Amino acid sequence: ALRAASVAERPRVWVSQPLFDDIVSRLHAYFDVVQAPDVREHDEAAIAAALREVDGALVTLNERIGEREIASAPKLRAVANVGVGYDNLDVGALQSRGIVATNTPDVLTETTADFGFALMMAAARRITESERHLRGGKWTGWNFKGLLGADLHRSTLGILGMGRIGQGIAKRASGFDMQVLYHNRSRLPADVEGAYKASYVDFDTLLARADHLVLVLPYSPQTHHIVDAAALAKMKPTATLTNIARGGIVDEAALAEALGSGRLAAAALDVFEGEPAVDPRLLALDNIVLTPHIASGSLSTRRAMVTLAVDNLIAALGAGPDAGRPPT
Ligand code: DGY
Repeated sequence: ALRAASVAERPRVWVSQPLFDDIVSRLHAYFDVVQAPDVREHDEAAIAAALREVDGALVTLNERIGEREIASAPKLRAVANVGVGYDNLDVGALQSRGIVATNTPDVLTETTADFGFALMMAAARRITESERHLRGGKWTGWNFKGLLGADLHRSTLGILGMGRIGQGIAKRASGFDMQVLYHNRSRLPADVEGAYKASYVDFDTLLARADHLVLVLPYSPQTHHIVDAAALAKMKPTATLTNIARGGIVDEAALAEALGSGRLAAAALDVFEGEPAVDPRLLALDNIVLTPHIASGSLSTRRAMVTLAVDNLIAALGAGPDAGRPPT
């Protein structure tokens, strides 16, 4: 028989920032919810304090959770990340404490691939630069040779990281008759390569042959600054680089230098190493599109991400429909 849990028995969870109240409110059926009042980047001390009394946490990439944060969280059993990337979590530290960590794959794949494609196109066709030109009152009339960009159609697309989102970008590229090359930790099975008409190449070949290179790989110590000055030097001077993964994958100083010197035609970044700070050397350039980490940001996808993270937290804490009841 179902039993009404007393308030004292109810697990407690921390929600690190306001999400969608109507979705997060499902947590109230099972847990006491401690809701952070506004969007902020909690520092280490604030996260440690927030985790001290809780059994679970619903967090975003703004919250870094590692050894130090969990050291003072004796009851913590689950961390549900709202996002597919989880480099903000020290998975090893969490695992060694037996804390379950979850993320939100799949639900954001298509939205993020849409945005990656849009950014690549914006960089290649100089869309934001052209708009600044117009808004800045610099447009003096139709100009045959003004603001000429590079084509996407029938060009060679390079995808670094051929997971779900990389495959989503490859799928879109086929409608543009692009040749798709990819590099990945492991080569995809032949039938998957066939489905996306994608050819596996080594990293250097990808750099050398791509007209448009898109980064869609996880961030880790192994991928830190994998696109550095040496990698950029291997790219075509006419190429574009788009990053929708994590800022730390690209050496931003080297990118600014390559874009400023004409070594690389254009870039588009949705992610930055020191978010929300953006390197002033990038801000000073015209041949770069800069967006504030919004690739998964359609309303329906952000709602789906929170829904999945809430489901994950409920499942991880073992609070299925029979496990607890709202207090009466
Ligand atoms: C992710 O999910 O990893 C994104 O960076 C935020 O949606």
